[in-house]
Amino acid sequence: MGKKVYIKTYGCQMNVYDSGRMLDILKPRGFEPVASADGADLVILNTCHIREKASEKVYSDIGRIRRAEKPAAGTPVIAVAGCVGQAEGAEIMRRAPSVELVFGPQTYHRLPDFLKTVERQRAAGKRARVFDGDFPVEEKFDQLPKIHQAAGASAFLTIQEGCDKFCTFCVVPYTRGAEFSRPVDAIESEAQELAAMGVCDITLLGQNVSGYHGAGEKGDAFGLGALIRRLAEIPGLERIRYTTSHPRDMDDDLIAVHTEVPQCMPYLHLPVQSGSDRILAEMNRGHSADQYRDFIGRLRSARPDIALSSDFIVGFPGESDDDFQATMQLVRDIGFSQAYSFKYSPRPGTPAAERKDQIPDSVRSERLAELQAELNRQQLEFNMAAVGRTMPVLLDRPGNRPGQLVGRSPYMQAVHVGFPGAGNMEEPTHPDIDAAARSPYSDRIGRLMMVEIMSAGPNSLEGRPADHFSETAA
Ligand code: 5AD
Ligand code: SF4
Repeated sequence: MGKKVYIKTYGCQMNVYDSGRMLDILKPRGFEPVASADGADLVILNTCHIREKASEKVYSDIGRIRRAEKPAAGTPVIAVAGCVGQAEGAEIMRRAPSVELVFGPQTYHRLPDFLKTVERQRAAGKRARVFDGDFPVEEKFDQLPKIHQAAGASAFLTIQEGCDKFCTFCVVPYTRGAEFSRPVDAIESEAQELAAMGVCDITLLGQNVSGYHGAGEKGDAFGLGALIRRLAEIPGLERIRYTTSHPRDMDDDLIAVHTEVPQCMPYLHLPVQSGSDRILAEMNRGHSADQYRDFIGRLRSARPDIALSSDFIVGFPGESDDDFQATMQLVRDIGFSQAYSFKYSPRPGTPAAERKDQIPDSVRSERLAELQAELNRQQLEFNMAAVGRTMPVLLDRPGNRPGQLVGRSPYMQAVHVGFPGAGNMEEPTHPDIDAAARSPYSDRIGRLMMVEIMSAGPNSLEGRPADHFSETAA
């Protein structure tokens, strides 16, 4: 009988990619993915350590799974993977005796061996205790199997991992290890496999994709721009994005790629963290606020419609009101289509966590609220500017309303597409599941469609097919 695995993914897109690759390893070994820990034989928590809240959730989830266990159904193997596993492996083993397997982001290709060891230890009548916190990143990519199945028209592809930048607030250099770029041919084959499975939209992933420097076939180094140009030659790949970049490595070639490669989407997530030069220096970011403004200015001259996203941290140790206001000024100067903002969270082992001048939580919360109000205002303004325009939308799932489909604009906005006449259909009993099945338009999922944007809200756009009448007449 087949075994069941439940994988819960926390945190960033790279974890989403890693969870998919774990399934690629487990499926040929008889594991079927299930949607809950209930009745699963193996539960993998693929964790995130970036902020305190992210890692706390893991311990409460372990407790919940433990309590829900039904001894008669057999005890599932609980595994903690990802960055909490890497950073706190020994502590998890101590604090959570129900966890039998812990491994970091760089060793999941060893899962089959881990599971054998767990079985062996269980057969000897003990709860297993297996921990691997190694960093063999090159070996991992060499040993991962081929991708089995794409989940839809959009996919992530990891091209680079790890980070050598050591921002003083960040755990990534400790949990993901040193920067490593996958060779060009490995990335190209994976992109070709994805395209052959119907993927037309890929996001190239890495902690520092803009620092990509993978080896080409002749041993020559490729930058991110050269890699994107190469991937754009793959038939069927219509949209290429990349994330996350660092302002320090953004260069003119990337600007040129945004103007010359039609598949390169007009959207860039470029974290700036702060608008204060003093704080940027203390964060060890390696650039000033004006250098960021200057890069964005050059990018916008070349590609005026580019949508910009960023990450911000408020309440970094020592951040004064003036420093925070410099961040607000930068936000007003640039204008973002969307952004992520966080209260500074001291992470064990990072230099900033040791500082005595931590900012009280009440101040961090106030600053976050002020920043988010401005970012939300900008996001709504950006969305409103789309009303009346017609743009290509990649439809990727059914919406909640009958006949409605949801997709992404070139600028990463969620777009709800209603089809004229679809509202006359019978109300579905289970909107999520039945809407697609009943929609005469469900065959459009996974395809690009020109959509006329009719209205906009803070988080999404509403539109209708621009070519509806000509298409349905055919
Ligand atoms: N506290 C708050 N936010 C953080 N980030 C990374 N480390 C911390 C921290 N210690 C944010 C940064 C980064 C994003 C992925 O998470 O903004 O760009
Ligand atoms: Fe963390 Fe800075 Fe590296 Fe980004 S560049 S992963 S914030 S250390």
